[in-house]
Amino acid sequence: MGLTKQYLRYAASAVFGVIGSQKANITYVTLRGGERGRYVAVAACEHVFIWDVRKGEKVQILQGQKHEVSFLCPSPDGVHIAVGYEDGAVRIFSLLNGESNVSFNGHKSGVSVMNYDALGARLVTGSKDTDVIVWDVINECGLYRLRGHKDVITQALFLKDKNLLVTSSKDSFVKWWDLDTQHCFKTMVGHRSEVWGMVLLNQGNRLLTGSADSELRAWDINFLEEEKAEGEPKVKKGKTLLDDEDDEDHEKEDDDESVEERILRCKKAGSILREARDRVVSLTSDSRARVFGCHGNDSVLELFTVLSEEEVTKKMSKKLKKAKKKAAKAQEDAPEPVMERMLKDEIVRLTNIKASAKIRWMDCLLCAGGELKVALLLQNNTIETYSLKTSDKTPVANKMARLTLGGHRTDVRTLAFSSDNLAVLSASGDTVKVWNRSTLQVIRTMACEYALCSLFVPGDRQIILGTKSGKLQIFELASGSLLETVEAHDGALWSLCLAPDQRGIVTGSADKTVKFWEFELMKDTGTNQKRLTVKHTRTLQLEEDVLCVKFSPDHRLLAVSLLDCTVKVFYTDTLKFFLSLYGHKLPVLCLDISHDSALIVTGSADRNVKIWGLDFGDCHRSLLAHDDSVMFLQFVPKTHLFFTAGKDRKIKQWDADKFEHIQTLEGHHREVWCMAISPNGDHLVSSSHDKSLRLWERTREPIILEEEREMEREAEFEEGMAKGDIPVVPGETEGEAAPAGKKTIETVKAAERIMEALELYREESRKMEEHKYACENAGKELPPPKPNPILVAFGNVTPSRYVLDVIKKVRSSELEVSLLVLPFPYVPELLKLFNSYIQQGLEVELVCRCLFFLLRIHFGQITSNQMLLSVIDELRTNTLSRVCQIRDVMGFNSAALKFLQREIESKEDVTFFADATGRLQEKKKKRRKRERAVLTIA
Ligand SMILES: *[C@@H]1O[C@H](CO)[C@@H](O)[C@H](O)[C@H]1NC(C)=O
Ligand SMILES: *[C@@H]1O[C@H](CO)[C@@H](O)[C@H](O)[C@H]1NC(C)=O
Ligand SMILES: *[C@@H]1O[C@H](CO)[C@@H](O)[C@H](O)[C@H]1NC(C)=O
Repeated sequence: MGLTKQYLRYAASAVFGVIGSQKANITYVTLRGGERGRYVAVAACEHVFIWDVRKGEKVQILQGQKHEVSFLCPSPDGVHIAVGYEDGAVRIFSLLNGESNVSFNGHKSGVSVMNYDALGARLVTGSKDTDVIVWDVINECGLYRLRGHKDVITQALFLKDKNLLVTSSKDSFVKWWDLDTQHCFKTMVGHRSEVWGMVLLNQGNRLLTGSADSELRAWDINFLEEEKAEGEPKVKKGKTLLDDEDDEDHEKEDDDESVEERILRCKKAGSILREARDRVVSLTSDSRARVFGCHGNDSVLELFTVLSEEEVTKKMSKKLKKAKKKAAKAQEDAPEPVMERMLKDEIVRLTNIKASAKIRWMDCLLCAGGELKVALLLQNNTIETYSLKTSDKTPVANKMARLTLGGHRTDVRTLAFSSDNLAVLSASGDTVKVWNRSTLQVIRTMACEYALCSLFVPGDRQIILGTKSGKLQIFELASGSLLETVEAHDGALWSLCLAPDQRGIVTGSADKTVKFWEFELMKDTGTNQKRLTVKHTRTLQLEEDVLCVKFSPDHRLLAVSLLDCTVKVFYTDTLKFFLSLYGHKLPVLCLDISHDSALIVTGSADRNVKIWGLDFGDCHRSLLAHDDSVMFLQFVPKTHLFFTAGKDRKIKQWDADKFEHIQTLEGHHREVWCMAISPNGDHLVSSSHDKSLRLWERTREPIILEEEREMEREAEFEEGMAKGDIPVVPGETEGEAAPAGKKTIETVKAAERIMEALELYREESRKMEEHKYACENAGKELPPPKPNPILVAFGNVTPSRYVLDVIKKVRSSELEVSLLVLPFPYVPELLKLFNSYIQQGLEVELVCRCLFFLLRIHFGQITSNQMLLSVIDELRTNTLSRVCQIRDVMGFNSAALKFLQREIESKEDVTFFADATGRLQEKKKKRRKRERAVLTIA
C-alpha cells in the first residue's frame, strides 16, 4: 500500500452563475404562505432555483442529479412542483421541504410539457419522444401512454370536469383524447405548420392555438350530448379506434367534417393577429385564463384579456346603443342595426411589454384588485418581473425587479483564483465579477471589454484582463473601478502569464507578438495618488498567431504555442530559441509547466494531451484526453497531477508521471471553456457554455484507480441495460394506448429483488418440508431449522411475509414495469402467495393491482397451465369477497363523511368544506372505479 500513490477525489460542491437556464420555463410558486407573485422557480441546469424576486435572493434549491431540467409545473394547490428532465424522468418535489419522494419514469427523451388536472390528482406529460403519458399522482403510478403524434409535444391540457385531454405537437396536429377509452377521437388538421402553444379559455369552451405565423387561431368547442346510456358497454370503441387510424393513413386535409363527430365539435371562431411576424415561442395564460400572453423570438410580450360573458354583453349593448343613435341621426326610420359578435369583442389587447433582451419564457399571475404580475425569463440569463393594473384604461407595465447580479449575460471565457484562495474572478463578454469562494456571493461586478484571459495582481488588490480587441484592462477591487486600459496588441490578446518573480507579466496575441510588461506605480495626475500600471519592456516577434504563453516556474524558459500547431520554447533572458515541440495535428489551445519546471503538458484542438520533458523536448506520452478540443489544462500546484477541460463537457484529472487517467468530473451540460485551480489545490472552478460556473472541492476520499474504472464500466453497463425496450405485453399491439412505464435500472433491480425474495421463499419452504418429513420419520418433534439470516434481520418475518414486504418496497410508479420484466417461472409461486395474502387480508389493494397485472400479461400461459387452475379458482372467490368487504367499509366511511359534512354545514351555515371533500370524493371515486374493475375481471 505504502508505495502506491494516493489520489484524492474531487467532488462537485456548488453550481453558481446561472440565474435561469433556457431549457425550462419560468413559473410562479408560493412558498410557506408567502405572498403570491414573490417567488419564481426556474431551471438552473440540473437543479431548480427558487428566487425571491423582491429581494433578488435564491431561497431554495431543488437538487437534481445528472440531467438538465426541461419543464416545471406547480400543482394547483401550490404545495408541490413537478419537474421534468432531459432524460424523460419526472420528479415531484414538495415546496415545503424541497424534497422529492415521487418519480415517474416513462419517457425516452426530454419532457417538453406538463400539466396537472384541476384537482391535482393527475399529471399529463408530453415529451420529445412524441408520447403523452397520464400519471396518477395520488397512487403514484402511470395510467397510460398515448401515442399518435409524430413530433415533439408542445402542449397537453386536461379539460375541466370532462375526462378529456387535448394535445398539440410540432407535427402540426392538435389531438383530442377520450381518457375513458384512451384513444384519440379527433385530430385537428387546420394548422399547416408546427403548433407551438395552446391555451383553453372560457371554461374550456374555447381553444386558442399559436403556430409558426402571426395568427393565433381561436376554436369554439361544442360538447355533443353525452352518450345516451351511461352504463352502456363501450365495446364499440375498439372499432372507432381502428376507424380513426384508417383516417390518419389517408389524411384528407380540411375534410374534417366528413369524419363522424363524437363527443365534441370544434369550429374555428376567428383569429387574433400578433404584432410579431415569427413563430410563437410561448403562449401562456394565468390560472383562470382571464389574461394570456404570447411572444416570439424577440423582446416583446403581447398581453391580452379575455372578457367575461357579462363584460361582453355589456360591451355589445353599449355598441348597439351607439350604432342605433348613429343610425337614427343619419335617417329617421332606419332599420334596427344588427351587431354581430366578433372575436375581438371577447379578446382584447391589453398592452405590450418590451423586455431588455429576447424573451425565452413567461408566466403571469392575476392578483387581487386586477393586478397582473408577469415574470419573464430572458435569453441572456436574466429574469425580469413586471406589474400592471388590468383595470386601467391604458395599462402600463412597470418593471418591478430584474435579477442579473448572480450571473453573466454571456459565456465566461476566463477564470482566476486570488493568491489567498478566497476569491474567484470570472469575466465574460461585458462584465467581470469577483466572487467570495466560500459564500459564492458576488463581491464586485465591473463592466469590461470582451475578456479572454485574466489574473490577480500579486497582493490581490488589482486584477488584469486581456481582451479580444488586444487591450489590457486594470481594475482596482477596493473601489471597483477601471484604473487603466492599455492598448497592448493589434489582435486578440489570447494569453496572459504572471512572471515567476511577480514583477511583471507576459502577453501573447493574435498579432504574432509576445510582449513583456513590468508593474509600476505611477502618480495619478488627478488624485495625486499612486496607482498600478504596466510598462512595456520587450517584444518577441513570431511567425504565427500566439495562442498561449507560459513561464517556467524557475523563470528560465518561456513556452509559446502558435497557430501552426507547434509550441516553441525560448530562453527568458535572451529570448533565444531553445526548442520546439512538434506532434500535435491541430493548434495547442492550452499548456502548463509543472512546479519543478520538469514537465510541460500541452492540450490541443486535436483532442490529445501530450506530456513532454522540458530538458530535451521529448514527448513522454500522448493521451487521447477528450472527445473534442481540449480547451484548458492546469497542474495541481506542487504536484505532477493535472486537470484538463474539454469541449466534450468533461473535466478530467491525470497523472503526468504514470500517464494515468485518475478521475472524470461530469456535470457541465455544454462545452467547458475554462477552469482555474486554487493555489492550495483544494478547489477548482470551471465555466461552461451552459452559463454555469461550478466549484469542485478536493475531498479526503482516496481514489483506487481499478475501482474507479470498474465503477465507470458498471455505470456504462447499467445505462445500456436500462436503454432496452420494455417487453411487449403479449396480445397487445403497438396501439394508441400503451403502458406508461419505462424499463429503468430501478425497475430491473426491483424485479431482481422480487426474484431473490421468491427464491428465498422457495428455499425456506423446502427446508420446512424436509423438517416435517424428518419429524415424521423420527416420530418426534425435532428442533426447527435455522431461519435465513435475512428473515431474522427483517424482524423474524415469515418467508411469505418477506416476499410481500419486498413487493411493497417497490416504488408504486415502477411496480408494473418491474412485474413485466419478472420471468414467468416465478409467476405461479407468486400467484399462490397472493392467494394467501388475500385470505389474510394483507395489502389487498396492492396485491390486487399486481394480480390483475400479472393475469393480464401472462393470460395465455396462466390459462393453459392445468396446475394453476385451482389457484386461480381460489383467487377468484377470495378476491371477490375481500374486495366487497373493503368496498363496504369505504362506502360506510364515505357516507359517514357526507353525514359529517352536512352536520357541519348546517351548523356553520357555510360550505367551506366543499372544496376539500370534493377532492376526497374524487379520490374515492377513483378507488371505487378500480374496485369495479376488480369485480368485472374477477
Ligand atoms: C431565436 O433566434 C436565434 C437566432 O436568431 C436562434 O439561435 C434561437 O434558437 C431562437 N430561439 C428560439 C426559441 O427559437
Ligand atoms: C441582457 O441583459 C442585460 C441586463 O438585464 C440588459 O441590460 C441587456 O440589454 C440585455 N440584452 C442583451 C441583448 O444583451
Ligand atoms: C467571504 O465570506 C465570508 C463569510 O461571510 C467572510 O468571512 C470572508 O471574509 C469573505 N471573503 C471575501 C474574500 O470577501
